Amino acid sequence: MFLKSLTGRFLLLTIIFVMLAEVLIFVPSVARFRVDYLQERLERSQIASLALLATPNDMVEPELEAELLDNAGVLNIVLRRDEMRELILSQPMPAMVDRDYDLRMAGPLTLINDTFATLMGDGDRVIRVIGAPVKGAGLLIEIALYERPLRAAIVDYGLRILTLSAVISVLTASLLFFAVRRFVVSPITRLVNNIKAYEKAPEDGRRLIKPKAGVTELFDAETALRSMQKQLTQSLRQKERLAALGSAVSKISHDLRNILTTAQLLADRMETSDDPRVQKSAPKLVNSISRAVNLCESTLGYGKVGETVPMITEFSMKHLLNDIVESELLAVNDTPVSITSQVEGDVRLAADKEQIYRVMSNIVRNARQVLEARPEGGQISLYGCEQSDGWLMSVRDNGPGLPMRAQDNLFEAFKGSVRKGGSGLGLAISAELVQGHGGTLKVSQTGEAGTEFQVWLPKSS
Ligand SMILES: Nc1ncnc2c1ncn2[C@@H]1O[C@H](COP(=O)(O)OP(=O)(O)OP(=O)(O)O)[C@@H](O)[C@H]1O
Ligand SMILES: [Mg+2]
Repeated sequence: MFLKSLTGRFLLLTIIFVMLAEVLIFVPSVARFRVDYLQERLERSQIASLALLATPNDMVEPELEAELLDNAGVLNIVLRRDEMRELILSQPMPAMVDRDYDLRMAGPLTLINDTFATLMGDGDRVIRVIGAPVKGAGLLIEIALYERPLRAAIVDYGLRILTLSAVISVLTASLLFFAVRRFVVSPITRLVNNIKAYEKAPEDGRRLIKPKAGVTELFDAETALRSMQKQLTQSLRQKERLAALGSAVSKISHDLRNILTTAQLLADRMETSDDPRVQKSAPKLVNSISRAVNLCESTLGYGKVGETVPMITEFSMKHLLNDIVESELLAVNDTPVSITSQVEGDVRLAADKEQIYRVMSNIVRNARQVLEARPEGGQISLYGCEQSDGWLMSVRDNGPGLPMRAQDNLFEAFKGSVRKGGSGLGLAISAELVQGHGGTLKVSQTGEAGTEFQVWLPKSS
């Protein structure tokens, strides 16, 4: 769990990275250590061999020779002073020389290789090392020595470096751990807590985050969050106000409709008045009041749409479209408007019958109203069919096409109407009802040749 947290990951990764870096330093420095060790042996041997210079025939007593070799820590020494003269300190060799190492021309890779060979070996080897004498004291110096002390010194040195690496990596990781906690984790936790608190009451303006992170990126995140919260809170408040307004409008529409219905009844009676002027204006009054009643009813209907969940039943598409044709034909005035319907086969539709009836009759009514408004009238044809994944119904007329102004906001409440006395709710309500079924309502064609609306309902929504 801890290793999955940001701080845990940082801790682990830092330890790994520092150890990796240390290993990269470790290899060359151990090789360097070996060279230094051998170089020092060569120098000590050189000093020991110089003791021979004090003697007349470059020879010393065997005891002194053994002591000199012992002090230098080697088995024998050959110092070539020039082409002619060699100073030699030697004792009987315990074993054959296993390997020669010439330090004068060894490159870094050879040195690293040789170090590993020493470490991998068992230390029982006798090695010969060749180097250049210091201070130009000769042409070359050559020593033989046991490899074991060299190997032990390298192991010891390596272990010390590894321990130091471990200490450094743990120390660095701990420092980073606290830094990450302080500069990254705390601000993120604050951000998350704020989001949680805000989520509980987004309309409460006091819960907006106050940016104060020290790290620029987190500060930017806090600022962006604050601006998003601000917008959200504002639009929530606006929505609340609109909802309140909407319910007030519904109540007003409701009461107004009742008042107007009474007025409608009274206006009806005026038509029987003896006064010809009253008689003449009565139909206009009735018309105006009817329009007002319609507006109230549509507004009330729109307010309810959001709550209506479709009650799915199975019914015949043919019957539904026929019913609509019949009731619309009843409403046609003296203009020559024909309405026909055609359904391919005996299609059974699974949907909310009442709602789909409202959708289709809204569309047909619009077409009828448009055709009635012109003296030549027109034709409306309804068509329905079943498809593999849904049902398609269309209403086509040969009217003048949708006015530009209506096209822009056709399916938006109160906005799409260009008809005198229209409220602009019919298509908005229809679209919502179709969407409630998971279907689509669209204008598939409009222009001088007429308009076609298509309703598509999916088989499983
Ligand atoms: N078949 C059509 N041909 C031409 N114009 C149309 C057609 N159907 C709709 N319209 C236009 O689209 C507008 C919007 O229609 P919608 O049904 O949404 O509102 P409305 O009919 O004006 O009012 P409401 O239906 O709420 O009483 C109409 O005013 C009309 O101008
Ligand atoms: Mg309409």
